[in-house]
Amino acid sequence: MSELGVVILAAGKGTRLKSRRPKVLHAIGGRALLEHVIDAAKTVAPAEEIFCIVGHEAERVKAAVERTGVGFVLQAEQLGTGHALQMVKAEFALSGAAPPKNLLVLSGDVPLIKTETLQRMIAFHHEQKASMTILTAVPADPAGYGRVMRPSAAAAEVLGIVEQKDLKPEQLESPEINSGIYCFETDALFTQLDKLQTNNANGEFYLTDVAALLVNEGKHVVALPADSVDEVLGANTIAEMMHLDAAMRMEAARRLMAQGVTIFRPETCVIDLQVQVGADTVIEPFVQLLGATKIGSECRVRSYSVIQGSTLGDGVLVRNGCVLDDAVVSDSAQLGPYAHLRPGSEIGEGAHLGNFVETKKVKMGRGSKANHLSYLGDAVIGAGVNVGAGAITCNYDGVHKHTTTIGDGVFVGSDSTLVAPVSLGDGAYVAAGSCITEDVPGGALALGRSRQVTKPEWATKKRAERESEKV
Ligand code: UD1
Ligand code: CA
Repeated sequence: MSELGVVILAAGKGTRLKSRRPKVLHAIGGRALLEHVIDAAKTVAPAEEIFCIVGHEAERVKAAVERTGVGFVLQAEQLGTGHALQMVKAEFALSGAAPPKNLLVLSGDVPLIKTETLQRMIAFHHEQKASMTILTAVPADPAGYGRVMRPSAAAAEVLGIVEQKDLKPEQLESPEINSGIYCFETDALFTQLDKLQTNNANGEFYLTDVAALLVNEGKHVVALPADSVDEVLGANTIAEMMHLDAAMRMEAARRLMAQGVTIFRPETCVIDLQVQVGADTVIEPFVQLLGATKIGSECRVRSYSVIQGSTLGDGVLVRNGCVLDDAVVSDSAQLGPYAHLRPGSEIGEGAHLGNFVETKKVKMGRGSKANHLSYLGDAVIGAGVNVGAGAITCNYDGVHKHTTTIGDGVFVGSDSTLVAPVSLGDGAYVAAGSCITEDVPGGALALGRSRQVTKPEWATKKRAERESEKV
């Protein structure tokens, strides 16, 4: 029998969100609510001792967090938080496995909970030899939360928890809220679960009613305030979630700034929690850094750029309005303004991608440049290449994608189209405006356009003719 197991309540639909996505899969700080809670749970118990209660869209929720290694208990019908724990009890009875001695219950929609607080709570639970310990807080506005009733403000003991909708007029002012996070002595909890009733405003089995049931049997039920109100705030509406999201991202921005990153107007930036940035990099206002993005030191990311899942070396300049998705950019490269690097773009050291250049699945060598209005897709481009304005790799024949290979030091004239599969050898030249359909050997010049015809005085005569027609 283990000392401590964790149950995470995640079966509810989240009616107040008015969303088709299950509540616990809504993201803040770039990760699902449930992922944040599982992370917190893992700091106090191993994955084998953590159980998520799933119900509404159970398969989708399971699939989203399966790789964390936690277990699942199905609550097919969601009849309330007390009913959810009844399912856990039934699961242990069915499997014959001994339940852990104590159960920490976390809410899938209370994502900011800190490991220090959980540890302090568990220690308090043991110290007090309590049957139930409730984590509480006193927020500026307690509306919507269940309230914890104590015999007197100074008492550690609790009389019970009353849900918002069931508050009597004289209880409406009770300031101390139930966070929905508890520590139970498992035996004590399990003996009360069958006694829960649904005679309340929601017609549900409330886990919160266990508090008064235990007190009635002379058991010790205590409450402990959390360190900060913020970490126990619930996410029941999109507005509440965005409030938590902003708090979390601000914390991420502060962490980066403490590591030597300059972030102008951090409140305008959207930075996911896992993002890493090196010292002396400057992030301008209204930048988004998302997913597992990693940025080196001494870079500058100018306003309105959105960088997702990408890796940037040191000294990279990302000018305004660039979009990077799953790209790798080496040291000292320069991008934009308005460059679009799609998945599989690997940009070499010191390379430049300028205005309105789009890349996809491209390897671009050291020091190569495509400075204006190009599409480069499915291409392997060598070092020191110059791609002229408006040049395009035609990678798609309507059915298949083909590769363009460009050797070192090649010069691709402006407005050329390279019809893949095609390759240009090292040092080759392509004349401006060419449509290249055949391989060009190294050192060669390829012209793929009709020869210019110049007719002297043609325009002058034409104009003179028109003038004479007017009279
Ligand atoms: C709950 C508490 C309330 C507390 C608040 C803190 C109860 C009755 N009330 O209210 O005292 O102040 O949390 O945030 O517990 N869930 C299930 N199965 C169900 C119903 C809910 O797994 O049948 C899950 C939900 O997915 C959610 C969590 O339990 O993650 C809490 O449910 P929710 O409906 O949000 O409870 P609150 O009304 O917020
Ligand atoms: Ca809630």
